[in-house]
Amino acid sequence: MTILVLLLFAMGVAGCGEKASKEQVKDTLALAPEMSGEEAVASLEGEEVEKDAMEEFDTDFRMYDSMEDLLSQEGIRFGTLINCKALDDENYLELVKAHFGSLTAGNEMKAYSLLDQSASKAAEDGMPVMNFTQADRILDFAQANGIGVRGHTLVWDAYMTDWFFRKGYDSKGGYVDEETMKKRLESYITQVIWHFETKYPGVVYCWDVVNEAVGDSEGEYLAEDERHVRTMRNGADNPFYKLVGNDYVELSFLYARNAVDGLKAENPNVDIKLFYNDYNTFLDRKRDAICALVDSVNAYAVDGEGNPRRLCDGVGMQGYIGGYGSQAGCMNDSDIEKMRTAIELYASHGVEVQVTEMAVRNYENSDVFVKMHSDYYKRLFEMFLSLNQGENKPLTGISVWGLYDRPELKKDDYSYKMNGPYCGLFTEEYKVKQAFVNIYQLLKAKN
Ligand code: GLA
Repeated sequence: MTILVLLLFAMGVAGCGEKASKEQVKDTLALAPEMSGEEAVASLEGEEVEKDAMEEFDTDFRMYDSMEDLLSQEGIRFGTLINCKALDDENYLELVKAHFGSLTAGNEMKAYSLLDQSASKAAEDGMPVMNFTQADRILDFAQANGIGVRGHTLVWDAYMTDWFFRKGYDSKGGYVDEETMKKRLESYITQVIWHFETKYPGVVYCWDVVNEAVGDSEGEYLAEDERHVRTMRNGADNPFYKLVGNDYVELSFLYARNAVDGLKAENPNVDIKLFYNDYNTFLDRKRDAICALVDSVNAYAVDGEGNPRRLCDGVGMQGYIGGYGSQAGCMNDSDIEKMRTAIELYASHGVEVQVTEMAVRNYENSDVFVKMHSDYYKRLFEMFLSLNQGENKPLTGISVWGLYDRPELKKDDYSYKMNGPYCGLFTEEYKVKQAFVNIYQLLKAKN
C-alpha cells in the first residue's frame, strides 16, 4: 500500500481532480482508520492515475467460467440475492445463471411477506394462512434454471407482523396465550416447509430456521442466559420470546426438524439442512453465545432411543464486514482472522457453516479504495479456501448480497449503510470488477 501511494504521489496524483478537504480526509479516516493521512488524500484525489495502474481484464461476466462450478469443487455453493423486481431484469438473470448455484429471496420468503391476514382471519381451524404467489415466482425461476434456494427465513422477530400474535389475527385484538402461539408457530413452520418442498422438490436445500435471535449487548438478553437470546430489540419486546417462551429458538428448530422428517418419511431423498443465521457472528461475545445456542438446540429433544436429536445442521454467518453498527473501520485484516476462528469454532460444535449475506463494505469509489476492496476479497477467499483444504469441509456456502455497486444510494439509505455503495464484485451495470477477478484467479490457480 505504501509503495502504491508513493508511486501515486511521484506521478503527480495530488494534481488530479479536486483537492481533498480536511473534512473529506477525516471522513475517509473514520471509515478506514488503518489508512495513513497520505493514503486518504491519495484515495480522494487519485482517481485517474490509479486507473492506469490497475490490471486490465475483460469486464464481461460471460467471458469467465462459472464461479459456481469453480467453487463447488471446493465444497462451496456460490449464491446471491434475488427479489421479484430482479425477475424483470434480464441482465441480472443472465449474471445469476452464469455464475451462481444458489439464490436467497430478499424478503419474499419471510413470514411478514407470506402471512395473509384476511385469509388467516377466515381460517376455520384458526391456523395461519399464507400467500405464496410472490415467493413462488422466485422458485419458478430457480427451478427452471437448476439453481438451489436458501430458504430465508422462518422465524425473525424483526419486521414481524404483530397481528400474527393476536386473538383472531385482529390487529386490535389482545395477545393469545402460550399454547395457542405454539400451535400457530408449529403450523406456520410446517406449512411453509411443506409448501416449497412439495411444489418444488429439492429446490430449497436449506432453511434459516431462526434469524438474529442472539442479542448484541446487555439489556437485550437476560444476564444469566449464556445463549444471549433476545428478550428485546431496539427497546421493544421480542414477541417470540415473550409469547412463545424463552425456548422459542429450540422449539422452532424442533418444529422444522419434524416437518423435514415428515417429508423424508414420504420421500427418503428429501435433504433440507436447518440453519441458525445471524450478523456479527465473528465477534467474540456473539460467537460464543451462538455456540451455546447451537448446543442448546441440539440437546433439546431426544429420539425414540433417548439419544439427542440433531435439530440444527448449520450456522449462517451473514457476513457484512466493516464500518457500520458495532463494527469499526473498513477492510480490517483482523476481521478475516476473526471469521476464520469463528468458522472453525462453529464447526467444532458439529455444524456446517455458510456465509449467507456477504458484503465487504466499501463507501469510496476512488482507485485506492477499489484496490483495497479487491485485495481484501482476495485475502478473504484465500482464508475461506484454506479452511476447506482437508477432508473436512466446514464451509459449504458463500452467498454475496453486496453483489454490485449502487452509486445512486443516498447516505441515509439503509442499504448505503448496510453494504456500502461500492461493495460490489460487479459495477452497477454488472461489469466485472477487480474483486471478482481476484477471486476468479485464485480459483483458477487451484483447478
Ligand atoms: C438481515 C436479514 C436480511 C435483510 C437484511 C437487511 O440481514 O437477514 O434478510 O433483511 O437484514 O438488508
